[in-house]
Amino acid sequence: MRLILDNARRLQYLEAMGIDVWISKTLTQPAQSPPSATESYSLDTPGPSVESDLPEVINWKSLQNEVAVCTKCSLCETRNRTVFGSGNKNADWMLIGEAPGQNEDLQGKPFVGSAGLLLTEMLRAIGLAREEIFITNIVKCRPPGNRNPKPDEIESCRDYLQRQRLLIKPKIILAVGRIAAQTLLKTDEPLSKLRGKLHRLDNTPVVVVYHPAYLLRSLLDKRKAWVDLTFAVQTYKNIEGHYAGIIR
Ligand code: URA
Repeated sequence: MRLILDNARRLQYLEAMGIDVWISKTLTQPAQSPPSATESYSLDTPGPSVESDLPEVINWKSLQNEVAVCTKCSLCETRNRTVFGSGNKNADWMLIGEAPGQNEDLQGKPFVGSAGLLLTEMLRAIGLAREEIFITNIVKCRPPGNRNPKPDEIESCRDYLQRQRLLIKPKIILAVGRIAAQTLLKTDEPLSKLRGKLHRLDNTPVVVVYHPAYLLRSLLDKRKAWVDLTFAVQTYKNIEGHYAGIIR
């Protein structure tokens, strides 16, 4: 069967089905020859844009559902709620922390405790609102007593994070704290060696910053955290400048 839907009707259906509608960045960036408003696409031929984005919409929902009922590791036995992540699914910035703590486990949202408050302030200081970016963690369930996540727990969650990354397609990743940095960059180097440098993960720039929970204990390093954040902002501006240069 040949099914033809125009974009507006497709979005209406997805909304009616209770599926979050979000538009890929590839659609919001200026295209060389934008499709006309009346153009429609066929679902059985590979269309230029919306067809390839449809699975993304569905994939996001199924990913959320998979995480919500995950039993891949023993953290599922002690958690109250999984913490999938929150914010803008179409964000340029993706922030990846370590693991939910007590408040996050109770609320099902990342970085909502005291470290989260400081993080929110740090982001605000560089002109970013939490809702603009996507915030998640290496592991989606709280390790008991806030211990570090174990290797098998990190491994169980690796695929979830990878799929989040592939769907969001961030322009820059902030790795928050040692565990996030070492896991993402597959290294044992200490945070002091990893910060202040530009890393890459599958070609996406990664900037390593101090964890706000550490900064709450070590006020002297707040200045270094500011340096890291401004480095991230400069990196992002360079990327944006690069895109602007290509489009012009
Ligand atoms: N620390 C983290 O790394 N993540 C959270 O969500 C909360 C605290």
